[in-house]
Amino acid sequence: MKVLVTGGAGFIGSWLVRLWLREEPGISIVNLDKLTYSGDLARLEEAAGDRRHRFIQGDVCDARAVGEAMEGCDGVVHLAAETHVDRSLLDGKAFIDTNAYGTYALLETARKKGVKVFLTVSTDEVYGSRAKGYFTEKDALNPTSPYSVSKAAADFLTQSAARTHGLRAVVTRGSNTFGPFQYPEKVIPLFVSNALSGKKLPLYGDGLHVRNWLYVEDHCRAILLAFRKGRAGEVYNISSGVEMTNRELTRRILKLLDKPASCVQKVRDRLGHDRRYAISSKKLRALGWKEKFSFEQSLRDTVQWYCRNVSWWKSILEKSRDFKDYYARAYGNG
Ligand code: NAD
Ligand code: DAU
Repeated sequence: MKVLVTGGAGFIGSWLVRLWLREEPGISIVNLDKLTYSGDLARLEEAAGDRRHRFIQGDVCDARAVGEAMEGCDGVVHLAAETHVDRSLLDGKAFIDTNAYGTYALLETARKKGVKVFLTVSTDEVYGSRAKGYFTEKDALNPTSPYSVSKAAADFLTQSAARTHGLRAVVTRGSNTFGPFQYPEKVIPLFVSNALSGKKLPLYGDGLHVRNWLYVEDHCRAILLAFRKGRAGEVYNISSGVEMTNRELTRRILKLLDKPASCVQKVRDRLGHDRRYAISSKKLRALGWKEKFSFEQSLRDTVQWYCRNVSWWKSILEKSRDFKDYYARAYGNG
């Protein structure tokens, strides 16, 4: 089988590419990635020299690049996106372009080329915040940031391609994902790298916002299952049973690093900060998905990975010239 993976030089995409190559000898992957600030080919070193993997640097909004990349593909797993909520609050344009229009461009090409299955990787953020209980796939969407609004647009476009054009198009909505190789602007790698650099950990607001934490390999296995077994036009939530406040998460990170609570600096809250994300993944579990990794062990492994791979995240931070500037503008604590 030949598949197009978009965003395969990103955090989750590169995990998916490596896992797929490792576990399915007959797979052939075309990897289309623009290599924005968050894309990095170092994540794909394991795939270097593997003839089943072809990397193309290109934009999902560019119909010509998309057409070329999708040539002869049976399926598409679409992960390419602008992904950081804080950046979307400062400037949402790239989010609308890539996440909404880029998804449309891919779907149009997929149906014209007769691709058999198209999976859009989406997020629990599209449901918005919920004080108690868990969202199911039947609940209405209530996205609040330019990021989550653009992802909701991608979800609807994907579902409409199934309904209107009969494409076997599927959406997965994953919760907060973590693990090695995550870009150090997301809370876990940011807090670990800050602590290792002797910097403060900027905890937003009262720190009582709740997120559900999913290890990256578990997320990728769920995507692969939905790709194989998901039904046309259907949505599948992906979440573990592990939810906690950011305060608790920070406490655990500091404990693993043997650092004091005084490392934490309370900073101004994120604008429109969603209080709690909570989804039920019963529907995907009924297809046979189950998380393999415990949160405690995978957080420990992840923290250790960042301790051992300082050169990776330091070189990422050095390359990203706008990074410090961006934080300084957003939170005054760059
Ligand atoms: P990431 O930011 O690490 O990677 C995104 C990748 O997309 C990068 O390699 C980047 O170069 C590429 N990209 C961006 N714009 C592009 C464009 N126009 N054309 C081609 N490539 C482009 O993101 P991630 O955390 O790996 O997220 C991957 C997907 O999973 C996204 O769709 C995201 O919305 C979704 N998701 C992420 C999480 C999470 O917690 N990280 C949770 C649920 C869903
Ligand atoms: O829920 C899935 C989503 O998870 C994905 O769709 C997004 O792509 C991904 O970025 C992530 O979004 P969040 O906004 O939840 O993740 P982030 O790591 O930015 O923040 C997690 C929580 O930590 C959130 O409540 C904000 C808080 N936070 C974050 C940063 C970066 C802080 O308190 N301080 C920080 O410096």
